[in-house]
Amino acid sequence: MTPDLSDRTVLVVGGAGYVGSVLSARLLDAGARVRVLDQLIYDNGFALHHLLDHPRFGFSRGDLRNRASVTAAATGTTDVVLLAALVGDPVCRRYPELAEQVNHEAAVQLHDMLAGLGVRRFVFTSTCSNYGIHDPSSFADETSELNPQSLYAETKIAVEEHVLAGASRTTTVGTVLRVATAYGLSPRARFDLTVSQFTRDLAAGEELVVYDADTWRPYCHVQDLSSAVLTVLDAPPELVRGEVFNVGDADQQFTKRMLVDEALKHVDGARVVYREGDTDPRNYRVAFDKIATVLGYRSRHCVQDYVGDLVSAVRAGIFTDVRPGDPRYGNHVVAHLC
Ligand SMILES: NC(=O)c1ccc[n+]([C@@H]2O[C@H](COP(=O)([O-])OP(=O)(O)OC[C@H]3O[C@@H](n4cnc5c(N)ncnc54)[C@H](O)[C@@H]3O)[C@@H](O)[C@H]2O)c1
Repeated sequence: MTPDLSDRTVLVVGGAGYVGSVLSARLLDAGARVRVLDQLIYDNGFALHHLLDHPRFGFSRGDLRNRASVTAAATGTTDVVLLAALVGDPVCRRYPELAEQVNHEAAVQLHDMLAGLGVRRFVFTSTCSNYGIHDPSSFADETSELNPQSLYAETKIAVEEHVLAGASRTTTVGTVLRVATAYGLSPRARFDLTVSQFTRDLAAGEELVVYDADTWRPYCHVQDLSSAVLTVLDAPPELVRGEVFNVGDADQQFTKRMLVDEALKHVDGARVVYREGDTDPRNYRVAFDKIATVLGYRSRHCVQDYVGDLVSAVRAGIFTDVRPGDPRYGNHVVAHLC
């Protein structure tokens, strides 16, 4: 059920991205006034075309690192959701200084400004990647030791720690969401994420090289991720202040080989090459009981349905313009941030 957020004005920082362009629409559906602050670092303004004429939607282009831009965007809002970051290990490795500035320093600066601006709620989107390598015969929960395997995860953990350490001192109710790897359609499709990449490559008849095929990862549909944010914004503050919630579904955890096998149910004659020894050693399964028990949240989508839908879409000629390294469809090359 969609909560009623008609008394809220929500700033989505990074709202033109893969998650943000879906979340912003869902917040409008919930009755909120929505502002997006985004620097459009991948020339991704097209992801907001469908929202620009909505009477409760506003957009400003600006850098999270810039205090004046953030102050202007956040003033008068009730809630701030932080999505903006260099998202994923490859892009953080490519731009390590930027990753530290944006993902860590600017996120901390934003957090520390919010109480002074009268913002009541802050949702920080972190990642299950923070669990890194965790014996996949057991499930990592919110109290499990974090084991980051990348600069991306290190920057996310640094902000988590800051938000949690400040939780009892600030009037803004801060919550950390550790989200599983996302899949699903969005105005800014990302074909650098495992489920979508594997499925699109196979449906397009391209050879797929899969590293470390038997490593596990949890997955979360971008609509379910958005529902989790809405659930947190709607929850009584005492249930979410200074809390961490894993976001995903216990039944939606797969090895890469399982994802390939799912796509192969819909694609004949595919060429798949399995190799060992990638630079990404992550291997973990996650428990999602806390968000279900405390907030009553449940995922509604499944990878199996999405894979079939994406194969049909690719075969129907949607996404014919996807090229390797295209910044519109993945976090490869930053066009606007220095
Ligand atoms: N996509 C996933 O699988 C996934 C999984 C777990 C967590 N998350 C988290 O969700 C959030 C959103 O991820 P996404 O997949 O939508 O990423 P994305 O790269 O598609 O979107 C990020 C957005 O932030 C903007 N941005 C980047 N740096 C900025 C800056 N300095 N100032 C202003 N705007 C800036 C970009 O232009 C882009 O629109 C991230 O914080 C990510 O860590 C994503």
